[in-house]
Amino acid sequence: MTDDALRTPSGMTSLWYGGDYNPEQWPRDVWDDDMRLMRRAGVTVATIGVFSWARLEPRDGEYDFAWLDDLMDLLHANGVRADLATATASPPKWLVDKHPEILPVTADGTVLSFGGRQHYRPSSAAYRAHATRLVRALAERYGTHPALEAWHVGNEYGCHVSRDYSDESAVGFRVWLRERYGDIESLNAAWGTAFWSQRYTEFAQVDPPRVTPAGTNPTQTLDFDRYSSDELRACLRAEIAVLREVTPGIPITTNFMGFFKNIDYWTWADDLDFISDDLYPDPEDPESPMLAAMARDLMRSLGGGRPWILMEQATSAVNWREFNAPKPAGMHRLLSLQSIARGADGIMQFQWRASQAGSEKFHAAMVPHAGEDSRIFRETEALGAELASLADIRGERCEARVAMVVDWPSWWALEQASMPSRLSYLEQLIRWYRALWRRGVLVDMVAATGDLGGYDVVIAAGAISLEDAAVENLAGVPARGGQLVVGYQTAVLDEQAHARLGGYLGSLQEPLGVRVEELWPLRTGSIAGLAEGPVSEWGELVRVRDAQVLATFVGSDDLDGQPAITRKAHGDGAAFYVATAPERIGAVVERVLADAGVPWTALPEGVEVVTRGDRTFVLNHAPASCTVTVGDRDVHVGPRDVMVLRG
Ligand code: GAL
Repeated sequence: MTDDALRTPSGMTSLWYGGDYNPEQWPRDVWDDDMRLMRRAGVTVATIGVFSWARLEPRDGEYDFAWLDDLMDLLHANGVRADLATATASPPKWLVDKHPEILPVTADGTVLSFGGRQHYRPSSAAYRAHATRLVRALAERYGTHPALEAWHVGNEYGCHVSRDYSDESAVGFRVWLRERYGDIESLNAAWGTAFWSQRYTEFAQVDPPRVTPAGTNPTQTLDFDRYSSDELRACLRAEIAVLREVTPGIPITTNFMGFFKNIDYWTWADDLDFISDDLYPDPEDPESPMLAAMARDLMRSLGGGRPWILMEQATSAVNWREFNAPKPAGMHRLLSLQSIARGADGIMQFQWRASQAGSEKFHAAMVPHAGEDSRIFRETEALGAELASLADIRGERCEARVAMVVDWPSWWALEQASMPSRLSYLEQLIRWYRALWRRGVLVDMVAATGDLGGYDVVIAAGAISLEDAAVENLAGVPARGGQLVVGYQTAVLDEQAHARLGGYLGSLQEPLGVRVEELWPLRTGSIAGLAEGPVSEWGELVRVRDAQVLATFVGSDDLDGQPAITRKAHGDGAAFYVATAPERIGAVVERVLADAGVPWTALPEGVEVVTRGDRTFVLNHAPASCTVTVGDRDVHVGPRDVMVLRG
């Protein structure tokens, strides 16, 4: 265990293993059976109270803690730590009836009703007041309980409601805008309201970007995205403020949702003591292991490399996809160990015991409907034992030499309706990540204004809407001897979503040695030179000032013979510009890694090799066995199996 391991008053030394535990759905005698099975399975932590508000506060200001007292004591007696939720994710009916104005409103004016969950508008003063009152009561009652391991604030903020277009949200939006712009003329300039007669004369006139007859103002929309992410964070912060005041020694988290578009997690991470994440890779999708790896790398990076907790995953099938494929034998263990390999100090699932009623009754759990005599429970036990044997990995770090920029405002801006072509931001990231993953190269994710200093390679793709400081941050990479790779649609706009004139790219033009004269969406095409072969989605008329042309477009009308991939050397460093999506993107990656001196291996399909601390995990996601060379050893790994090598 290293100094980075999560420290709590309990001094817990095992990895987290357990899940969401909702005993209020069961008679009391089932709880005793739960404890017996938890002990058998090696459960160390249970997340409790996530959806318990209505049970904890059955009437306004009237609390019923008796059952939770009992549960906390029971967990403690059985050696299970409590990740205690603040229970504010789903307001009770009395609160909705008393304050119907807490219900969220969609862009077209529809009011969302009680009967599901997360039916609150983030800007609601009534919601926040009642939520923080409950949090204070919980903190005062359980702050010194010996079972308390951590606070779990809310649950999956924004999962169902992350944009609220109500009048109350409009009021909050105006306050946020006044803070950002100071005066209305600055807002007019930023939003480009000279266009289509959209000028405002006072903040009171400004609304959220509700449904409009034609193309809603792009900067208004982008600012509303920023505001909405901040507004949800204000809910989180309101609860955290109470917890820090009442229980300063107890670590705090909230469960993220991987690459979730609607919240800028960089701006949330510092509020938390540790990052936790929920991830449900689709068992049917052959790309799931790669996509899951990418999300796990994001979580590690959000915590600055410190360990994080996988807070939710399914032991087998979920119930919310169109088709819910089960996880075949071995897959759950593989995806769990993938998280450990990529920096997690705990593996939790949704949920402990499968519900008998409600809309998640067909969601897999650690104890399925069939009970303990089942494949799933046997896997649950086996995983618990394996994680117990890995406990001393706690706090160990992973070292990455390659970083990819993740920029939420660019994600929002790139996918607006008024863009030159419908591009997916995640797809831009995935293309590069996939090529690196297949070559066994570990990647950190970084914010555009984050510290890029420690990386030999930095990749920015589709980072379309960047502030000047971020563009300069990227430009600094080749200057200090690193390899910078810039993919198309990067720095085309500034942070107000205004076009950067004179060839886009802003201050990246100089280090790249190119400017972009014309954007040229391409359905398909091809290039010659580096990564020779088909390309898709995108082209550009790139004008080279002082860069080497590594590949040119072939055919595609006016693009024929024009630069597609360029490189400008800067001493030991270099800046690459990639103006299209080559099918053989791996060839570009190999060139960049070679220039950077970063080693890589061509891994068999579905295999990943990840080093954390002094352990190397060889994970074979494929249904056939494989042999991989790790250092000077040939390692044989069975189908859907893992080898953990030490030293
Ligand atoms: C998460 C949520 C859990 C449960 C789970 C089902 O979004 O936090 O409460 O609903 O999904 O997959």
